Amino acid sequence: MFNTEKIISDFPILQRKVNGGKRLVYLDSAATSQKPLSVIKAMDDYYRLYNANVHRGVYSLGYEATEAYELSRKKVAKFINAQTENIIFTRNASEAINLVASSWGRANFRSGDEILLTPMEHHSNLIPWQLIAQQTGAKLKFIPLIEPGILDIEQLPQLISEKTKFVSVVHSSNTLGTINPIEKIISHAHAYGAKILIDASQSVPHFSVDVQKLDCDFLVFSGHKMCAPTGIGCLFGKTELLDAMPPYMGGGEMISEVQLEFSSYREIPWKFEAGTPNISAAIGLGVAVDYLSSLGMYNIRQHEIELTNYALSVLQEVDEIEMYGPTENRGGVISFNIGDAHAHDVSTILDEDGICVRAGHNCTQPLVRWLGVPAVARASFYVYNTKEDVDALAASLKKVQEVFSFAAAK
Ligand SMILES: Cc1ncc(COP(=O)(O)O)c(C=O)c1O
Repeated sequence: MFNTEKIISDFPILQRKVNGGKRLVYLDSAATSQKPLSVIKAMDDYYRLYNANVHRGVYSLGYEATEAYELSRKKVAKFINAQTENIIFTRNASEAINLVASSWGRANFRSGDEILLTPMEHHSNLIPWQLIAQQTGAKLKFIPLIEPGILDIEQLPQLISEKTKFVSVVHSSNTLGTINPIEKIISHAHAYGAKILIDASQSVPHFSVDVQKLDCDFLVFSGHKMCAPTGIGCLFGKTELLDAMPPYMGGGEMISEVQLEFSSYREIPWKFEAGTPNISAAIGLGVAVDYLSSLGMYNIRQHEIELTNYALSVLQEVDEIEMYGPTENRGGVISFNIGDAHAHDVSTILDEDGICVRAGHNCTQPLVRWLGVPAVARASFYVYNTKEDVDALAASLKKVQEVFSFAAAK
């Protein structure tokens, strides 16, 4: 059902060798995924064959570029079951969150209003809310965490009230792998009239997400974690909210009419797309959506569940390993530490074997602090990873263990 050999052959980078001829074992897709040839080729075609700005040129190249750019928007919309006009192209998930915090937040937050977050947020879903809270006098609150790294949603009735104006929650944690019960959080938020944003950076690339079924108000993700290029991200927002929000940035073709003293703006989504967008990346994203759809999001999820369960059991055999996060209902990321070895040292030793993992705080400093460690190493899986990759990681981690027990014995 899932032909990983064929999938691997779709990704040119996976054919290369590293560190003196070692097979590349790429286990850092939660940071950014690799790109299939079809995506690379689509971007190359744009620059070779129809490079022109969008929504401007009244000539055939301009029409072709605009058509391809807007077709990508349609594909993305269908992918998450949204209407096309509800998809705004941004640079990445971070920019999409900043857009909402800044535009919706400035228009709506008053002193004493509450914004509900969680301690497992990526910095990109924390700092924009800190900034807007500082500017408006709104207060930040957090759904507490309980072992082994899940949200204590029993606390929701005490945490959400009429004061709660906004809730912003990660769908799937990039450090713990926890998949949060966002349906419950959305319905609690709506019961008190609060708006809710879902940070789907680690969910949209990995399993099927349906914004209509979820009934979330906003949802964000980045293209580069789902086989698309860097420099393109998406914001989904409900029509009535986007319509009422002021533009985030001004300039370019986001206008309807410009006078010297004031301007009027285009309808959504273009109202929020100031300046020349990342056209080639948007086109690449549309092709990435085609690619993932051809594999099937259900199949992708099943593949990742199988691989993650396999990794959890194989890595358990490595001496002194501590793995974080729940064992069930989790995405394909495993953060860990080995004895007293610093995650950066672990990563450097793995690199000698051609294995790429993330090491540090994964842009989740408060969460890593909650874990009580200075840093973690993180292996993350995607469509092109195999059990052989997991075995290679486990074998290399045994070497790490040997190096460190040797160092300790000296
Ligand atoms: C859960 C989560 N949210 C937000 C982001 C930010 O994504 P970007 O850097 O593409 O804006 C990331 C990236 O690692 C993430 O994992």
